[in-house]
Amino acid sequence: GTTVQDASPQAILLADYQAPSYTTDSVDLTFELHDTATQVTSVLSVRRQDPQATTLRLDGEHLELVSVELDGRTLSDNEYQVDASSLTLAGLEEEHQIRIVTRIHPDKNTALEGLYRSSQMYCTQCEAQGFRRITYYQDRPDVLARFSTTIIADGAQFPTLLSNGNMEAATTLADGRRQVTWRDPFPKPAYLFALVAGDLAVLEDTYVTGSGRSIDLKIFSEPHNIGQCDYAMDVLKRSMAWDEEAFGREYDLDIYMIVAVEDFNMGAMENKGLNIFNTSCVLASPDTATDAAYLRVEAVVAHEYFHNWSGNRVTCRDWFQLSLKEGFTVFRDAEFSGDMNSRAVKRIEDVGFLRSVQFAEDAGPLAHSVRPDSYIEISNFYTTTIYEKGAEVVRMYHTLLGPELFRAGSDLYFDRFDGQAVTTDDFCAVMQEVSGIDLNQFKRWYEQAGTPELTVTETFVDGSLRLQIDQRCPDTPGQSNKPPLHIPLRLGLLDENGAELECDVGAVTSDAETAVRTDGLLVQLKAARTVVEIAGLDTKPVVSFLRGFSAPVRVAYARPAQELAFLAVQDTDGFVRWDALQTLWIEHFDGHGSVDLVALVGELAAQAATLSSAEAMQLAAQMLVVPEANYVFEQLSEFDVDGVLDARDAALSAIASAHRGSWQQLYDKTVSTSAFQPDGLSMARRALNNIALAYLVRAESANTAATLIRAHFDGADNLTARRGALQAALSRADELGQLTENLLSEFYARWKDEALVIDLWFNLQAQADSTTVERACALAEHEAFNAQNPNRARSLYAAFAMFNHRRFHALDGSGYDFLGTAIAELDNINPQLAARLATPLTRWQRYDARRQGLMRGVLQALAGKADISKDLYEIATKSLAV
Ligand code: TRP
Ligand code: ZN
Repeated sequence: GTTVQDASPQAILLADYQAPSYTTDSVDLTFELHDTATQVTSVLSVRRQDPQATTLRLDGEHLELVSVELDGRTLSDNEYQVDASSLTLAGLEEEHQIRIVTRIHPDKNTALEGLYRSSQMYCTQCEAQGFRRITYYQDRPDVLARFSTTIIADGAQFPTLLSNGNMEAATTLADGRRQVTWRDPFPKPAYLFALVAGDLAVLEDTYVTGSGRSIDLKIFSEPHNIGQCDYAMDVLKRSMAWDEEAFGREYDLDIYMIVAVEDFNMGAMENKGLNIFNTSCVLASPDTATDAAYLRVEAVVAHEYFHNWSGNRVTCRDWFQLSLKEGFTVFRDAEFSGDMNSRAVKRIEDVGFLRSVQFAEDAGPLAHSVRPDSYIEISNFYTTTIYEKGAEVVRMYHTLLGPELFRAGSDLYFDRFDGQAVTTDDFCAVMQEVSGIDLNQFKRWYEQAGTPELTVTETFVDGSLRLQIDQRCPDTPGQSNKPPLHIPLRLGLLDENGAELECDVGAVTSDAETAVRTDGLLVQLKAARTVVEIAGLDTKPVVSFLRGFSAPVRVAYARPAQELAFLAVQDTDGFVRWDALQTLWIEHFDGHGSVDLVALVGELAAQAATLSSAEAMQLAAQMLVVPEANYVFEQLSEFDVDGVLDARDAALSAIASAHRGSWQQLYDKTVSTSAFQPDGLSMARRALNNIALAYLVRAESANTAATLIRAHFDGADNLTARRGALQAALSRADELGQLTENLLSEFYARWKDEALVIDLWFNLQAQADSTTVERACALAEHEAFNAQNPNRARSLYAAFAMFNHRRFHALDGSGYDFLGTAIAELDNINPQLAARLATPLTRWQRYDARRQGLMRGVLQALAGKADISKDLYEIATKSLAV
């Protein structure tokens, strides 16, 4: 985030990529931390790459240049060029040593990029382009250098001084300051640099690798949080073992460190040997983390650890290749979470998110491909398309190749490109090389934006089932008339009893390559139309379509609703069971439902009380809830906000009162009887218990509901249950008298010193129907509110704009104005955060004319803001330009 100076900032194009003309072999950094400013001395060894080159341009922003030396000689002002974003040296030869001294002001850095202060500690965030706020450097991922870091700071204030690699020396200077030197033996791009200075507590452990090396593991946090780091340590050790087993990847340094930081723009960062984490993705304890938070800690600790290979040892050539590391690493962490918990449930959660958020992005004005070809501000491209759709693309290789060949491809990738900065084409090439499968058409997944749509036409004649599958990819900004994609389609056939029908190859005729696998058929769609015929069937089977969500596509499949109801109960594929039920819900909200969903959910509720395995209970928890409004909106071609919300409320109430007895039974059966455990079975029980409470609270009189909620709240020994009580209380706030206010204030008083718990307190209120814009404004004035802290800002603004549909979409525009005002203020503080908060407004095309006008009005005002950041400029202007 730099500020936009002229009217239209330059777009950076993939087509303009050029290899660096000089490279940097080593960089030795010295940081002198002072209260007033930090002085950074950087000694670079640079070497010519392009024989014609004589100039070297270094990136640098928000820096005070103190001095420049070339091979030991101080340069005068006219021997180099500096402007707001660079330092250029001309007349250079083969090799040089450059010494640059800059001064920076971490205490004033509210953007949280580069070196900044969070609470009492100093920390860094360099991805994607934060290193240029520390010193002048070739801040691009294809320049890989060996780094050393010396940190000099007051020893009493900053006893903990950390950087990448191994600690090489530590001394106390004559003036009492402490000096520590770290050296990272692995060449790396600057975005993986990190530094931390603070007075931190540490949790220590060791891990012995498969080859017998002992690794020191350290998790640092501010002293009051150190008791909440054990779960992350446990996850870290499980991740290290899993990556050896599943991908053959061992850790490479002697020490692995994680630091928990309160002020952080994203989830966490994979800096070599020194991960920096948002506290929300590392801290966990029964009283301070919900089960969702435990699962998030598990996923993010694993994700950052897995980056050590997919991202660090093999990195990206340029930022257009971001999905090379992010898509692959999300795939890896999803596989890990699936192995640790339930595969089907992990898949359901991920697909639910993809459909609600990524499909919306892909259908809107900011749609971009997995490998974009242009950007203004790269921070805006850390999107669900790059991460989650990118992970789906990697999953499709896995499906097409099968697990063994995929593993061979990944082994070859790590082996061949170790220490290099590469492209998504390189990834594709190794997968093609090991498998012999032609992946040229498959590459279109990286180039084409938009969610492909499959239209399925089914006929059954003379014992032969015929499926005609048409694919098309919608137009997106800058892309129209797209050619067909190479889509792996997994499907199975069920007989009328729900038994899997074995298909033998001889019975299948298809114009696409089709293989019989243990879990059904794998059809490789390549043409705009594919026909598959399966002969020799006695009766018409039920098709279990797109098993495991084998490709990130939409499906239009006109079929009897009874078949979907059958699949929801009978399929062997957990994802398809859930998916069939979601399709029925969407038909219901679209006004043409023909299945009695109240009865169907009732059956599932009665069944849920009889289940005992974690897996089955978790799946039940997924199927007993009515899909979230965001999910419903995104699945409908047209919708009316209040209409969907009213219909959703009506469905919840009908399900609640029709099955009151089942909810009571389920509630009683899932009341916790033992001490808190973060395991699958306990989580499933808590999930079902909260769901049963929510329905009971809808079904009962206000008095009975209040008694239930109070008992649930007082009996809770964990945050998941407390959240269930608060949510239930907020859902009937108008009728429960003082109860809701009482619970909120008791909760606040009890947990006001636990930042993450108070984030949840803001979040639940911001989402609730009963929170009007007026109340949201009051929350923004609350003593605990602080817009400078990204977690806190998101807990109010993002929660309100993304989930409080009634108030955010109020027809007087007050919800949009509330968000617009917050974004404008935040843009002066933290542009990355401001730009991200604008996302809900960029979806304006999905709403009615009146709301469209109001949303566009707010975006227009933002686009015209004085001193707008590049980040917000790109989002506001691109979202208006369609
Ligand atoms: N690479 C980080 C990840 O694991 C993403 C990230 C962390 C990031 N902090 C950031 C991206 C700041 C941009 C800006 O996914
Ligand atoms: Zn990542």
